[in-house]
Amino acid sequence: MIHVHDVWKRYGKLEVLKGLSLDILDGETLVILGRSGVGKSVLLKQIIGLETPDKGYVEIDNVRVTDLNLRANRPGLKPIGMLFQGAALFDSMNVGDNTAFYLHQHFPNLSESEVQDRVAHALEIVGLAGTQKKLPSELSGGMRKRAALARVIVYRPEIVLYDEPTTGLDPITSMQINELINQTKKELNATSIVVTHDIRSALEVGDRLAFHSDGKIAQIAPKNEFFKIDDPTLHDFFSNAAIDRKELEKYH
Ligand SMILES: Nc1ncnc2c1ncn2[C@@H]1O[C@H](COP(=O)(O)OP(=O)(O)O)[C@@H](O)[C@H]1O
Ligand SMILES: [Mg+2]
Repeated sequence: MIHVHDVWKRYGKLEVLKGLSLDILDGETLVILGRSGVGKSVLLKQIIGLETPDKGYVEIDNVRVTDLNLRANRPGLKPIGMLFQGAALFDSMNVGDNTAFYLHQHFPNLSESEVQDRVAHALEIVGLAGTQKKLPSELSGGMRKRAALARVIVYRPEIVLYDEPTTGLDPITSMQINELINQTKKELNATSIVVTHDIRSALEVGDRLAFHSDGKIAQIAPKNEFFKIDDPTLHDFFSNAAIDRKELEKYH
């Protein structure tokens, strides 16, 4: 279980996280919704250990992760992967080498043929079989996103964090990414956190939904109860989110 306890984070005068607490259960997909700029990416950075909170802590299976510099060096800690917002691939490396990159870091002793097998399998899962020799510049935006996901799932993390996985993608590509998130959860038996402001995506992948507002998790509920929550700020968020009531009701 991931336990976020009373986390505070500020940048200069800007107080972003203000005593945020949150538990993520093993095997669930928790979606965090919230307006742009509210601090969703900042929260993910505290969870993965890229930044340290000013106050409070994050524990994964009772191990504190907030003071980690190189989590890969901490034995016994669950491997964790993150799909970053920009799907940052290394432009000068082909898809195969990109996909192998973190696999090498996590499993330095794998033989080259094993690396190639795992890379091929990961690319197959994301629907990019046989693209090893292509450069990122030869791929569409959706394909780059999928390649970035292959690069994460190739080392079989038990926790996967997704930062805005569908932002900027067309509806059909978004749908493919949603399906991949669900498939990844099954394939890896993973616990997932998906940060998004795309309600449609939240509904497709989430077991529970949380609403991040004013530095805290203002609301959290199973998907089918989330839309019944009586909270004016949340209702404002829905009405600005370009999804009509009928569509929400499908999920009630
Ligand atoms: N390293 C940083 N230095 C200064 N300000 C930051 C930094 N990271 C994030 N912020 C600010 O914190 C706020 C929340 O950012 P972010 O978590 O990226 O929002 P979002 O919810 O859209 O992901 C924004 O105002 C952003 O400018
Ligand atoms: Mg963000």
